[in-house]
Amino acid sequence: MRVHQFLMLFVSFCMLACSRFVLAQHATGADVFSGEQAFKNYCANCHGAAGNQIANVDLGHGNFRKPYSDEELVTIVMKGIANTPMPATPNMSKEQAVQVVAYLRSRALLKDVGAGGDAVRGKALFAGKGECFNCHRLNGQGSRLGPELGKIGLVRTSEQLATSLLDPNAEIQPNNRFYAVTTKGGEFVRGRLLNHDAFSVQLLDTKEQLRSFMKTDLKIEEFIPSPMPSLRDKFNDQELADLVKYLVSLRGADKQ
Ligand code: HEC
Ligand code: HEC
Repeated sequence: MRVHQFLMLFVSFCMLACSRFVLAQHATGADVFSGEQAFKNYCANCHGAAGNQIANVDLGHGNFRKPYSDEELVTIVMKGIANTPMPATPNMSKEQAVQVVAYLRSRALLKDVGAGGDAVRGKALFAGKGECFNCHRLNGQGSRLGPELGKIGLVRTSEQLATSLLDPNAEIQPNNRFYAVTTKGGEFVRGRLLNHDAFSVQLLDTKEQLRSFMKTDLKIEEFIPSPMPSLRDKFNDQELADLVKYLVSLRGADKQ
């Protein structure tokens, strides 16, 4: 019975305390991910996926018009802002609202994420722990499955790069989309979609082979999520900053 009582005490302690601690602690990757899903479902139609569609409101960079506490933001998310078009979201549980706020706060970290980074360490992470060459090509080395990154620093900001690393599916360039087909013979092939017309589909498969299929031979064909793994749980903030700093330095010229 004592174990039981202890458990009850623990549970009620948690109900009182955990909800306050969730935000004070570092939110987990899973919380942020659920928050992002809820944001897409409930908020993005007005605020836009990047959070900046409403004039003077910029949720996408953790910039708010007032220095709201987490608790105040949770209340805004659940109850809306009275006498403005910002609505209450009655279907949103407190737990979900806490996750949405964790997600919005995490967006602030994306701003200038490369600032404290070290490109030399980032280069080592790219080749080592990140296993980026498994899918990406750089200076003639690596796989062609994912996009070539030799000039990525010219065309993406550090914020876009951080988003690519943390949420590979958030924004995919049209020519980088992944596609899967199942032939009538039962073969399953997935890869980068190279071309797609009324009669045929061409893919670069995961072994970097060019594959072409007639649509009449296919049972199933569909877009599939990016195979790129999120670095959210694998890399800490410093490693992420190092990697972004390195990617920003990739500008096609001189030594890299
Ligand atoms: C029907 C459109 C609409 C929806 C849906 C909506 N918002 Fe808003 N939101 C607004 C508008 C408009 C404002 C600005 C209100 C004002 O004038 O103060 C706003 C303001 C805010 C603010 C205050 C920003 C600041 O800097 O003061 C936050 C935070 C916010 N919304 C978060 C959310 C979240 C999170 C969701 C999803 C749960 C959401 N909103 C859903 C329209 C919407
Ligand atoms: C399993 C394969 C795979 C691995 C491993 C992988 N990527 Fe990717 N990556 C892709 C694919 C496929 C895309 C294109 C689709 C997308 O945007 O997610 C991509 C997209 C990107 C983009 C966006 C490119 C653009 O044009 O905006 C960046 C930046 C990137 N990867 C960096 C990295 C880095 C850095 C690593 C190592 C930490 C890495 N990737 C590991 C497959 C991979």
